Amino acid sequence: MSFTIIDQAPARLNRSELAVPGSNPTFLEKAAKSSADVVFLDLEDAVAPDDKVPARKNIIEALNDLDWSSKTVSIRINGLDTHYMYRDVVDIVEQAGQNLDLIMIPKAGTAADIYAIDMLVTQIEDAKGYTNRIGFEMIIETALGMQNVFEIAAASKRNESLHFGVADYAASTKARTTVIGGPHPDYHVLTDANADGNRDVHWGDMWHYPIAKMVVAARANGLRPIDGPFGDFSDPDGFVAQAKRAATLGCEGKWAIHPSQIDLANTCYSPSEAEVTKAKRILEAMEQAQKEGKGAVALDGRLIDIASIKQAEVMVQKAAQIADNDA
Ligand code: GLV
Ligand code: MG
Repeated sequence: MSFTIIDQAPARLNRSELAVPGSNPTFLEKAAKSSADVVFLDLEDAVAPDDKVPARKNIIEALNDLDWSSKTVSIRINGLDTHYMYRDVVDIVEQAGQNLDLIMIPKAGTAADIYAIDMLVTQIEDAKGYTNRIGFEMIIETALGMQNVFEIAAASKRNESLHFGVADYAASTKARTTVIGGPHPDYHVLTDANADGNRDVHWGDMWHYPIAKMVVAARANGLRPIDGPFGDFSDPDGFVAQAKRAATLGCEGKWAIHPSQIDLANTCYSPSEAEVTKAKRILEAMEQAQKEGKGAVALDGRLIDIASIKQAEVMVQKAAQIADNDA
């Protein structure tokens, strides 16, 4: 281990993160009753300019009047390049900050963006005498944000999670796709010709690099890496495939841009019973090995060692957290 100890963000379930437009009070009510681990009430891209002010008011009412106790609630403020942002923060934190867990910062580009909002939120919290501290979730969705993702991740003690905003990221990097998340047929390799002269097409994952980079930045700073939207909500199989790819790389959850995606995300990001049983067997086998003074042993024909303990512990802790949540 390094001498540097990484503080971990507060442990929250973040398997599914439901996006809800602040402009629609009915959706806000439904979101509070949903099975999403986290709900973010949107003031940014799902809200048209004329609806920004009413959406703020709806969100303040929803935070103060609805019961969010079974979940984490966040607001997605407008970008720092807009004049909406300061009122999003000032009005909502002043009028409903004690009921707000997180603020989502879109299009985070530099560490200074996070610093600026930290300063504003700190002043409001102090002035109001709030005892809760609001955490931050940053969307990494521009080339600038991806370039500076390591500094952004370390920019504030409030930081809890990084999110891959695939739609804006595609626009910012001028990627040649118009779908939101998922693979693209042009991103493929061709196998060499077989005996009949035929070549197979193997689709690749064009989002592998940004997600993997964001996972490193998040984990190196004790934050949760979360995969962003999958636009085609009529394609549950495509959603699950993308969610599994991101989970395999280390992501802890995924956005749901439609209620039908919530349970899919909750399932994909919960360890299965078989995984938890295996993890518990690894812990037992390693406990026995340590009693016998061994650093590594074989289990089911595979080597396990001290590193396996940490992986197994993460799995068992996650299962316990989910069980607590469902109790
Ligand atoms: C999310 O905000 C995205 O741009 O994908
Ligand atoms: Mg975006």
